[in-house]
Amino acid sequence: MASLAKHTPRLVYRPFCLAIGYLFCEIIMIILGVESSCDETAAAVLVDGKLAANIINSQIEVHRRYGGVVPELASRHHLQNIYPVVETALGEAGVSLDDLDGLAVTQGPGLVGALLIGLSFVKAISLVKRIPYVGVDHLAGHLLSVFLGEEKPNFPFIALIASGGHSSIFLVRSHFDYQLLGRSRDDAAGEAFDKAAKLLGLPYPGGPEISRLAADGDPQAIAFPRAWLAPDSLDFSFSGVKTALANQVNNCRQGSGQALAIADLCASFQEAVAEVLVVKTLRAAERHAVENIVVAGGVAANPRLRALFAERCQGSGRALFLTPTQFCTDNAAMIALAGWHQFETRKTLCLDLDAYSRTPILA
Ligand code: KG4
Ligand code: ZN
Repeated sequence: MASLAKHTPRLVYRPFCLAIGYLFCEIIMIILGVESSCDETAAAVLVDGKLAANIINSQIEVHRRYGGVVPELASRHHLQNIYPVVETALGEAGVSLDDLDGLAVTQGPGLVGALLIGLSFVKAISLVKRIPYVGVDHLAGHLLSVFLGEEKPNFPFIALIASGGHSSIFLVRSHFDYQLLGRSRDDAAGEAFDKAAKLLGLPYPGGPEISRLAADGDPQAIAFPRAWLAPDSLDFSFSGVKTALANQVNNCRQGSGQALAIADLCASFQEAVAEVLVVKTLRAAERHAVENIVVAGGVAANPRLRALFAERCQGSGRALFLTPTQFCTDNAAMIALAGWHQFETRKTLCLDLDAYSRTPILA
């Protein structure tokens, strides 16, 4: 009896979800997306595939004093923020919960405590309002975020995701078919920017700070190493360039008495990271004979990386699709969009969906 009681809600809910999912899969119109994988609480509303609201509550100020994201604080702030963020998104889109046809929520990867806030919130709405929901992989969101822009690539395309947690190259054949071609063996590109900024005494998150200061620096001032790895490798390694920066900073501070040329250090470091990201992404495109290149993730907001991609793609005759800057860093619009496509394939899920910290997309 006890075990039947335990499983009854699931047994009842599963057929219900599937039935509703099948019923709505062809006519899903209004989707609420929710993202809470790290330090942004975000909600977005997609109406007929078009973005009607995109609300992001960033916790940067909360975590800045610690020099990085503190997981428990992130969860607590998601808990405080999720209701107002969702309410604001619905209000901006001019819809209520009763108008929603589907819900999409980040399932992983990310901080599990943070993910569970968004996931539980969406499950509660799903249960109370009888609206089907899907769990979305955060990386799938980044891979598809380019479609939120005006210029939309055709499949297949080579996509670089450069973010705080990942630096990966994918061959993307459809909205659901992603083949991993290369990945970071140590620090992700955004992580390298954040750690470099810390070494330079700059606040978290370091990427925007470094790119701001780099604008006044000379990218050739310091010859930072580029980790190409094996000649044909599509993997990345950014720990070496970070150590090289640490050595430069220590030399200046301890021995040489030289002033820290911070703008030059930022510009040279940024150039070293950007060049490797661009060269390896184009190498992947050449190897797989793919014409279209997509760049996504928080680091894709970096102006120098965008300019270098534009320059090199033009030089090699490839079509470049840069994710619009406002959709590069974490947002729920990309989750709503990826979820919308998942509804097309009837992947409606049930209340037993769990969060995960590592993505199966990289398996
Ligand atoms: O995609 P995202 O918001 O979160 C993850 O999924 O990780 O990426 C955040 C990362 C941070 O490491 C941040 O420093 C970096 O993106 N970032 C940048 C810039 N803007 C954000 N890195 C370099 N230049 C930027 N302008
Ligand atoms: Zn992200």
